[in-house]
Amino acid sequence: MKIRAAVLEEFGQPLQVQELDLEGPKAGEVLVKIEACGVCHTDLYTASGADPSGYVPTVLGHEGAGFVEAVGEGVTLVRPGDHVITLFSPECGVCIHCTSGKTNLCMAIRETQGQGVMPDGTPRLSRDGEPIRHFMGTSTFAEYTVMPEIALAKINKEAESDVVCTLACGAATGLGAAMYRAQVEPGSTCAVFGTGLVGLGAVAGCKIQGAERIIAVDLSADRLEVAKHYGATDLIVAGGGDVDPVQQILDMTDGFGADYTFEATGLVGVMAQAVEAARMGWGVCTVLGVAGKGETLAIVPRFLITGRTVIGGSFGGTRGRTNVPQLVDMYLEGNLDLDGFISHRITLDEVNKGFELMEAQDGIRSVITF
Ligand code: CU
Repeated sequence: MKIRAAVLEEFGQPLQVQELDLEGPKAGEVLVKIEACGVCHTDLYTASGADPSGYVPTVLGHEGAGFVEAVGEGVTLVRPGDHVITLFSPECGVCIHCTSGKTNLCMAIRETQGQGVMPDGTPRLSRDGEPIRHFMGTSTFAEYTVMPEIALAKINKEAESDVVCTLACGAATGLGAAMYRAQVEPGSTCAVFGTGLVGLGAVAGCKIQGAERIIAVDLSADRLEVAKHYGATDLIVAGGGDVDPVQQILDMTDGFGADYTFEATGLVGVMAQAVEAARMGWGVCTVLGVAGKGETLAIVPRFLITGRTVIGGSFGGTRGRTNVPQLVDMYLEGNLDLDGFISHRITLDEVNKGFELMEAQDGIRSVITF
């Protein structure tokens, strides 16, 4: 079939919206009609050429939601008409990682997904016979996409795609970090560095877990106001030269530090601050940001010897097919505000505007609606 999609032709160049061919779903695959897709930093990161594993041409986009249009042979997990969220982090439920109960990193299709092809080694996207590779196993900057069934979370049909699509990446990464990865305990003091969508999700997740105090750190006073809405009790505007967020957090916690800290900036200097702001004895620092190529996190060993733990999480440790539908239900029950994350709604043709808004740090999330 013919579809319209946003193609990254060349690194560092705007995406080009054009017509492509999409082959139908093969065994174990599903054709999804995309209704909405968030524009995430990872799309921009790859488009810029900074991602060492990036390739062109490809259709970007990974924060999608929509409906199952058709299924390939042997598909049992979804049927036509099901409402789904796309998962760049699949959950097969049977691989050594899925059954370990210790990680959300499913091994089933990792290799082929990284190569931009379906599990059988071929792409479904093409243009005039020339194969075009998929991106993150999703390629959701498109009217339709084909994905493996294990990479779709089946959700409540009532949920609006242009809101819950944020659970395909950003919001779920932050929420999951607090709820599933760090497993914040009630009454805790938490500190969240960076209050973009991931950081705001972490703030909201800490609140859901019953944290008593949530300290939010960001360069933007506007974004911190949004963090306050999501449950931040103390705000620190960083980057003012003489402002040392670590010292401020220590001062707020009788010199001890926070029980849980979260880093959601991708800056290794901020990651180090998040480690140093974690409490002596038992503080847990969760690293979520994607750092630049070749960058490393420097930690003075004393911080570890004196009882701090550093952990990280892809997709915040969220198990896609298990946890994402639960988060959608929380939203529908009124226990999780996702609407406040969406600052702009744009069309597919305006996808580059979504990148510009992100670069200008204007708003929280732009969502493309189809
Ligand atoms: Cu993302």
